[in-house]
Amino acid sequence: MVRRVLSAALAAAALTGTAFATCTKDSHCPQDTPCCSLYGECGVGAYCLGGCDPLMSHSFDSCVPGPVCKSATYNLDSLDDVQTIDKYLGDASKINWQSQGMPAIYTDPSSGEKSTLLTLAEGTSGTLLASTHYVWYGKICSKLTTAQGAGVVTAFILMSDVKDEIDFEWIGIDTAHVQSNYYSQGVTVYTNGKNLTVSGQSTVAQAHEYCIDWKEDSLVWSVDGNDMRTLNRKDTWNSTSNRFDYPQTPSRIMLSLWPAGLSTNDKGTVEWAGGEIDWNSPYMDNGYYYARFHEVTVECYDPPEEAQIKGSKTYKYTDKAGTNNTVAITDDSVILGSLLGTGEDPGEAAKSGDASATASVAMVPGGNPGGGIRAEATTAAAASATDGSTAQATGSSSSGDSQTFSQGDSTGAGSALEPGLGRIGGSALAIVVAITGLIVL
Ligand SMILES: *[C@@H]1O[C@H](CO)[C@@H](O)[C@H](O)[C@H]1NC(C)=O
Ligand SMILES: *[C@@H]1O[C@H](CO)[C@@H](O)[C@H](O)[C@H]1NC(C)=O
Ligand SMILES: *[C@@H]1O[C@H](CO)[C@@H](O)[C@H](O)[C@H]1NC(C)=O
Repeated sequence: MVRRVLSAALAAAALTGTAFATCTKDSHCPQDTPCCSLYGECGVGAYCLGGCDPLMSHSFDSCVPGPVCKSATYNLDSLDDVQTIDKYLGDASKINWQSQGMPAIYTDPSSGEKSTLLTLAEGTSGTLLASTHYVWYGKICSKLTTAQGAGVVTAFILMSDVKDEIDFEWIGIDTAHVQSNYYSQGVTVYTNGKNLTVSGQSTVAQAHEYCIDWKEDSLVWSVDGNDMRTLNRKDTWNSTSNRFDYPQTPSRIMLSLWPAGLSTNDKGTVEWAGGEIDWNSPYMDNGYYYARFHEVTVECYDPPEEAQIKGSKTYKYTDKAGTNNTVAITDDSVILGSLLGTGEDPGEAAKSGDASATASVAMVPGGNPGGGIRAEATTAAAASATDGSTAQATGSSSSGDSQTFSQGDSTGAGSALEPGLGRIGGSALAIVVAITGLIVL
């Protein structure tokens, strides 16, 4: 008796037309693809890590519990602490940042200081770094210089898995201001936004320090040490939903540069971003727009009194309300064996042997959620507009070492990406794997 099992995994741009199960609060993901991504699509693997929505997934255990807050200073002077989303399996003790798109290290020619460039080339959805640890109240600061040009948006945001969100966003045509914003559970109330003045040199010419001081009762946005806006929880009561529309759940830190000004995006988003992007702009270098992040600091505060404290390692939701009092701190920690794993069934490192079905499974969500709610609203359009032409745009920079940045040296992060996956990771397409099992007796 010969038992032969063939397990073929194909990262398949060819399969992008495949329809996947979608998810909402009323219609959760099915058991075989239990995890609901930020974009409302079901899958396994990276779908179950950061951004997995516990209120739309198959069960509260489908999503991998989020690693607790860790106070730290990140210098962002190398990519050693960054892993691409198609490689990261959930071990936050080893890696602090997950990436999508094309980050690169930039060395300032005069000071020698290194920082991380987030790049945005035509045909891609830009670059996102997301922290692997969550913050559940804390002071989070970043020093950065923004990208410039119509339609190009630099973002430094906090976003929870139930889509509470706190934003700093820079519109590339307005380099004297930053927009502050917040959302509660993904409800789009655009009037929450406020435009703040950045004094001194422009947001492009000079690195400023932007901080989000997030406490249970108040939220303060500050620039260069000056408090610019305060939101008090007591002023956010919503008598329709019967809760405070105040960000209150464990959130990841996201740094991103994303293309809001695409003709395929929602018209309101394009207008908000100052119009469509010019892909032959003087503000581009080496074929891309770029924002430069110098540093991120995180000072964790105590979790709220309402928290259900059962351990010290991870945050986990226990109820569909998705409010602060329904989050537990537990000792449950999960590291996936492979991108076929889920929170309930992490699996083991890839092995051949037991696949006996034929299936297509989505393992790595596409898109750049670094744009927060606004980007999410426009993702579907971007995904259908992104096609083979993407390959050229990021493919050339992923070929690596010959890349030079005209303002100084840069190490292309592209060399850290496998060309195939890097190309897909930089686009709005999900990575899909076909598993074919064949048993011959
Ligand atoms: C922010 O406010 C300033 C001054 O009122 C205005 O010039 C600028 O266009 C505003 N920026 C945005 C993006 O709305
Ligand atoms: C209150 O909550 C409801 C339901 O989520 C939402 O539709 C509405 O916009 C909220 N009201 C305000 C003023 O934010
Ligand atoms: C957290 O939950 C408690 C108990 O339900 C509630 O009183 C409090 O307002 C909540 N905090 C926020 C920020 O909504």
